[in-house]
Amino acid sequence: MQITFTPSLDDLSGDLLILPVFADRTWGPGAEEVAAELGDWLDDYLEGLDFSGKVGQTAAVPGATGFGRVLFVGLGDEVDADGMRKAGGVAGRAALRYESVATTMGEIELNGAVDAFVYGFLLGQYKFTKYLSEPKPSKTETLVLTGPEAIDEVARAEAVAAGVAMARDLINEPAGGKKPEVMAEIAADMCDDLGMDITIYDRDEIKEEGFGGLLAVSLGATNPPRMVVMNYRPEGAEKTLALIGKGIVFDSGGLSIKPASAMETMKTDMSGAAAVFGAMRAIATLGLGINVVAITPLTENMTGGAALRPGDVFTARNGKTVEVLNTDAEGRLVLADGLSLAAEGKPDLMIDVATLTGAVQVALGMKVAGLFGSNDDAVETVTAAARRAGEKVWPLPLEKDYRSKLDSPLADIKNIGDRYAGAITAALFLAEFTAELPWAHLDIAGPARADGDDGYITKGGTGFSVATLVAVAEDMANSAVM
Ligand code: BES
Ligand code: ZN
Ligand code: ZN
Repeated sequence: MQITFTPSLDDLSGDLLILPVFADRTWGPGAEEVAAELGDWLDDYLEGLDFSGKVGQTAAVPGATGFGRVLFVGLGDEVDADGMRKAGGVAGRAALRYESVATTMGEIELNGAVDAFVYGFLLGQYKFTKYLSEPKPSKTETLVLTGPEAIDEVARAEAVAAGVAMARDLINEPAGGKKPEVMAEIAADMCDDLGMDITIYDRDEIKEEGFGGLLAVSLGATNPPRMVVMNYRPEGAEKTLALIGKGIVFDSGGLSIKPASAMETMKTDMSGAAAVFGAMRAIATLGLGINVVAITPLTENMTGGAALRPGDVFTARNGKTVEVLNTDAEGRLVLADGLSLAAEGKPDLMIDVATLTGAVQVALGMKVAGLFGSNDDAVETVTAAARRAGEKVWPLPLEKDYRSKLDSPLADIKNIGDRYAGAITAALFLAEFTAELPWAHLDIAGPARADGDDGYITKGGTGFSVATLVAVAEDMANSAVM
């Protein structure tokens, strides 16, 4: 899609004109001039509609004077980034059938408003059509914005949205189409495109390198595991951010098998790895001035004669031994190796992203991710970035008193606690592999997937965390944090 700016809509025509409207039914940024140009009838139309202008509300009316159709989109009480993203999302979805689309931006005071609207618009148009015999992809070819040129904001929105779309594509792909080898190839192609380095460890190398958790989880799988390490190293960068993503391409639970209904969505158990892939794409596209290492352990968690058994013990990359009592608590096992490897490079901050526990869904629901951190700085850094990115995260405590729930009589630690505080005990388990370096953990089991369209969120994989990770990288590159 081509996105351009024009000072006014003079002489402009197209298929769809999107006009922003505030909650008191006054015109949004830039809309007044355009509406005046088109004639009073638009004001009259707006008067007569059952349309309040709350965020994300839309109403379509037949067009005139150059535009086939006019769409009113609610912005709420004022211009803010969340409202612009949401309005952009519903506008994008409503615009899918139209080739040439225009909207007004005017002289918006808010920094980032164009970024937010375009980001929402692009992602509201997202569709996963690969397996449809009659796909109906977006027809939108051009989006014209009135107002001052904000080229940098458009470029940022496009880069981050492309990262999110990549993550959504990977998450929505059925497990059979994203075997670890395939995921690794996708990473390699991306690194080729964007000038990043990549190391891919196959099963033998996983064994040699001591990635005992990844190996253990992969035992039941016919499709071999991969450990993928990507490196973005721009010239002159001083700081290093490590991103670690849970990449269980299918979670059957293993021998501690899941009920059928709980397994239905488990192709999405690699959403953490997908978010890390998408964030790397965006970070490299934007050329941010910070080193980023991405570590994604990839495997299926399957049953079978060779599968990991409850009661088995393995040694993780950092030398700690783990007693596995429930093979369905597998994400923490592969992340143990990922975090251990990340810690070896002594990064300034490590962030892992994982669809880790059902317990975090119970605690925070399907729209909010659980956030844990080794210290206040790490938690505040991710919280601030997530707020800017429009993603909802909430802090949960790494409560030391619960560490004893993970004591094993046989090994250094066991992989499950009791029935209480499951998201916290999972995070406490991960902490054992962080070498006490600055670290944050996002449990995205809730928001990684959506049951329906909502603003710029589309049903299925959401790509949650991509935007937050990019925002953290920006803030660190600007030396604002860490
Ligand atoms: N992948 C699941 C967590 C999950 C559940 C993600 C629902 C998304 C939706 C994870 O591997 C898992 O099964 N965790 C267990 C841990 C338990 C056995 C300690 C859980 O949460 O039930
Ligand atoms: Zn599991
Ligand atoms: Zn899992």
